Amino acid sequence: MARPEAPAREGPEPPKGPATADTRPRGAPAGPALALGRRYTTADLGVFTTEEASRFLPQGSGDPQNDLILAWELLYRLEPELYDRLAGAERLHPGIVGWLPCDVDRIAEVGAGTGRLTMELIGRGQHVVAVEPARPMRLILERKLAAADHGHRARVVHGFFDQLPLPDDSADLVVACSAFTPAAGHGGETGLAEMERVCRPGGCVAILWPNHLGWLAARGYTYVSFPGPMSVEFGSYADAVELAEVFFPRAAGEVRRLGRRMVPFEVLGINPPRDLAFKVLAG
Ligand SMILES: C[S@@+](CC[C@H](N)C(=O)[O-])C[C@H]1O[C@@H](n2cnc3c(N)ncnc32)[C@H](O)[C@@H]1O
Repeated sequence: MARPEAPAREGPEPPKGPATADTRPRGAPAGPALALGRRYTTADLGVFTTEEASRFLPQGSGDPQNDLILAWELLYRLEPELYDRLAGAERLHPGIVGWLPCDVDRIAEVGAGTGRLTMELIGRGQHVVAVEPARPMRLILERKLAAADHGHRARVVHGFFDQLPLPDDSADLVVACSAFTPAAGHGGETGLAEMERVCRPGGCVAILWPNHLGWLAARGYTYVSFPGPMSVEFGSYADAVELAEVFFPRAAGEVRRLGRRMVPFEVLGINPPRDLAFKVLAG
């Protein structure tokens, strides 16, 4: 998903009234956390670098309360730890991780974020380049890598889909997880062409947790999905409630009612990270 667009995220909804003590199981936070669509204001736009502002605010300004894509970009820069808590709970289907080749030399990942996939890739490739535009996300990823076995195998660099800072044919596997969409700002035609440019002939480009499957199929990508029930594995029930209030506000009442830390993806209204689309480039 590039996160903003897919997996299908919920749009902003009106502010909520306070939760009542009667409906709140033990361990739930006292009051609702601010939903992503209400979380940031125009006063927060100053966090963008000049380059980011020219990309995310092409008209010179924007309102994150009316533009959820903008709100996600602000989240990555203002509250990357909050994003990391969400990504840590939304674990990839083990089938996806198992599908990844485990003996490649060079891997390039685009939109690496705080490393949900990167931390798997360092066990599978000798040389991993993780491209990520948001500096606060890069810092978290670098911190995780510094503490990880094989963390030295990954290099974290700044870059965007449409201008990857990598040479032609320089990777055996080029991958993006929950980051690529057909929209120009999150990949698009140029971004896919860039991923394929960086991939060597005979190598593989893979889009994990894709949306717009028809768009990818029309460009020669094969779809793979792994079955089985999947839940978001929040750290605790309190975490489930808080993160649902932020990211899945329409489902927050049901999350409170369930009273558990494990919440099926269907309850949250999003498709689970159980699938991918890939293309092996002509050799
Ligand atoms: C939903 S997060 C996914 C992060 C990580 N891959 C994961 O699975 O948790 C989307 C990531 O894509 C990055 N991103 C947004 N626009 C991008 C672009 N045009 N090029 C590359 N990365 C981009 C964001 O900064 C963010 O880290």
